[in-house]
Amino acid sequence: MKSTFVLAAFASGALAQIYNQSSVPFRLFLKSDNETLNGQSLGACHQGAAIEGLCPSGHTREDGAEDYNTFYQQTALEPVYNLPDNDTYGPLVWNLTVNGGEIVPSYMTMDPYIDSNIVNPTFGPGNSSFTSVAFTAGGCMYNPVWLDDTVSPPVFLDEAKKVENWYTCLTRTNYLYVTLSWKIGLTGEPQNPSCERALVIREFVE
Ligand SMILES: *[C@@H]1O[C@H](CO)[C@@H](O)[C@H](O)[C@H]1NC(C)=O
Ligand SMILES: *[C@@H]1O[C@H](CO)[C@@H](O)[C@H](O)[C@H]1NC(C)=O
Ligand SMILES: *[C@@H]1O[C@H](CO)[C@@H](O)[C@H](O)[C@H]1NC(C)=O
Ligand SMILES: *[C@@H]1O[C@H](CO)[C@@H](O)[C@H](O)[C@H]1NC(C)=O
Ligand SMILES: *[C@@H]1O[C@H](CO)[C@@H](O)[C@H](O)[C@H]1NC(C)=O
Repeated sequence: MKSTFVLAAFASGALAQIYNQSSVPFRLFLKSDNETLNGQSLGACHQGAAIEGLCPSGHTREDGAEDYNTFYQQTALEPVYNLPDNDTYGPLVWNLTVNGGEIVPSYMTMDPYIDSNIVNPTFGPGNSSFTSVAFTAGGCMYNPVWLDDTVSPPVFLDEAKKVENWYTCLTRTNYLYVTLSWKIGLTGEPQNPSCERALVIREFVE
């Protein structure tokens, strides 16, 4: 869910969210029943000009952190409305290095398309558009859900539900890759038959 939507729905105008500019870098590791994927870090993978997806990198915890698999999060400075446990919330950022060594912070968005019920996180330069995610204290990445429309009428939840609809799927955002994917909605399975359940675990870079 886009943070802008959440704010529009829940904040009373005065509560514009402000983000911490400098949180500590981390890697993201897959937890999967697939033994090949389990324990691999996610890395930025080319999806277009200055656009990256999140793909299993082939590297594990034993391999050192590198630029392409090191991320950080612009965390909300104010507690986020009805987010349990003071979990951290904000966009993931990956530093794209362009020709000449200039660093361009690139923000993750999760924009759905009508052709699939999975969405692929992608990074693009700048913060004009981004999707926030949350982490539990233990480092599990999730999306908070504030609205349940599996009941009628739809209800706003008193406390956000922590949803971890992560999968690894063979996708074609642009190229044919196994990518980190998110299954939209609270019920149902990915329509993409290649999808395998995954959890995403944050580990700070020492
Ligand atoms: C902002 O991030 C820095 C670096 O991670 C951290 O030391 C600081 O506590 C954070 N500030 C707030 C208000 O969360
Ligand atoms: C990314 O770039 C920003 C701006 O140059 C810098 O402040 C930040 O420390 C960098 N983060 C990482 C993880 O390299
Ligand atoms: C595990 O994942 C790899 C990479 O996506 C895939 O090629 C392989 O078929 C998967 N193995 C099983 C047992 O599903
Ligand atoms: C969340 O943070 C607020 C403000 O810092 C604090 O008063 C509250 O006790 C915290 N709640 C939890 C569950 O940690
Ligand atoms: C976006 O980037 C600009 C310029 O670096 C900064 O002033 C602004 O606070 C950022 N916005 C967010 C939501 O991080």
